[in-house]
Amino acid sequence: MATIIPAEDESPDLRRRQQEERSARLQQLATLGELASGLAHELKNPLSTIKLNLQLLLEDLEKLPGAQSSINRAQSVRKEVDRLVQSLDDFLRFAGRLELQAAPVKLNTLVSDIVDFFMPQAQATRVRVHCSLASQDPVCRIDVNLFKQALLNLLLNAQQAMPDGGDLLVRTHIADGSAYVDVSDTGAGISAEVMPHIFQAWFTTKKRGTGLGLATTRRIIEEHQGHITVSSESGRGTNFRLELPLVTG
Ligand SMILES: Nc1ncnc2c1ncn2[C@@H]1O[C@H](COP(=O)(O)OP(=O)(O)O)[C@@H](O)[C@H]1O
Ligand SMILES: [Mg+2]
Repeated sequence: MATIIPAEDESPDLRRRQQEERSARLQQLATLGELASGLAHELKNPLSTIKLNLQLLLEDLEKLPGAQSSINRAQSVRKEVDRLVQSLDDFLRFAGRLELQAAPVKLNTLVSDIVDFFMPQAQATRVRVHCSLASQDPVCRIDVNLFKQALLNLLLNAQQAMPDGGDLLVRTHIADGSAYVDVSDTGAGISAEVMPHIFQAWFTTKKRGTGLGLATTRRIIEEHQGHITVSSESGRGTNFRLELPLVTG
């Protein structure tokens, strides 16, 4: 159970102890992350062998008369293997070391490239994508590949929140020495019960979700010295906001 410590008890001693505890916890998490990544890599090799052999097995079965139910079973095993591989890849992206290869980048140009890349996939599910870019192109220090991943996770979530179609708006603007990217959708919204958990690794409300998208996005944005915030109204939609420091001078 959570213990509430009254503010007047927050002596410097207590604060130092809390800080020490936090860094010990972070250290533990880092070690755990390394172990888990090692395990994920270990699992990927036998999984590729399983996948390859399943493929061969399926080809054999397809030559046999009356093997349809065996084919179906083998196909569903293959689907689960694909899902495992996908989960491991997502996990490795989340838990792997991030070494930022950041350089000054024009944010509008990058955002509109990513949106163009995503557009056909969105349109296939009747999601209309709109882009509204800052009149002055903000320049930020960005690792393009990682940022692409971070933004695509938000676009994908927005699309998935609108299974019957809707509007996805991507905006950039500059304010108070920061650049902002907003991704808003007209989807189902996030309920008050779900909201506290959305950035936790493995938390998902989707049948086929991995729950690593937002955890990864937050990690990437924070590695860029940025922030991610969210506001949502149940039934109306959701807005995710990325804040990044501007390159000055
Ligand atoms: N745009 C959105 N609209 C509604 N819910 C969202 C949105 N983005 C994220 N969520 C909620 O946050 C959860 C975690 O998202 P994420 O980390 O990307 O994992 P996943 O997409 O695999 O479920 C989702 O399962 C969903 O409940
Ligand atoms: Mg997601």
